[in-house]
Amino acid sequence: MTVSEQFSWQRLIQQAEGLLSVSTNPISNAANLSALLYQELPRISWVGFYFLNTGSLMLGPFQGKPACVSIEMGKGVCGTAAASGQSIRVADVETFDGHIACDADARAEIVVPLFKRGELLGVLDIDSTHPGRFSEQDEAGLNALAQVYLSSIE
Ligand code: SME
Repeated sequence: MTVSEQFSWQRLIQQAEGLLSVSTNPISNAANLSALLYQELPRISWVGFYFLNTGSLMLGPFQGKPACVSIEMGKGVCGTAAASGQSIRVADVETFDGHIACDADARAEIVVPLFKRGELLGVLDIDSTHPGRFSEQDEAGLNALAQVYLSSIE
């Protein structure tokens, strides 16, 4: 990889804005955003959405290995982020009490809750097999990307 091809959140956000501008469908846009992130983010093993459905987080569009279908609010990293309304960045999931191991090789995780007009829609979740993979900058970038997604949907 040359210097000019290095990963940039700014460029990824611009790509996402273009990709999501052609549709306002929440599932279509979640599917395409998952695909874009899986292609572009270095050293990640899984990326996808869980959507709130009758009180649980249900698996939505994703890229990577098959994953847990349903997560209770308050459980795991996803359910904790959803219940608290805060992003969670875990350097090593083995130290996160209650982490749900969909993939035994996953070691770092970042989860951003998705709110539209104050209402929780679900979460955007990324896993990596590299401990400490996600930085503060990644958290800021992913939050900005989540806003691009939320602005794109109906
Ligand atoms: N590890 C997550 C479960 C979802 S998977 O990572 C795809 C959690 O603890 O909520």
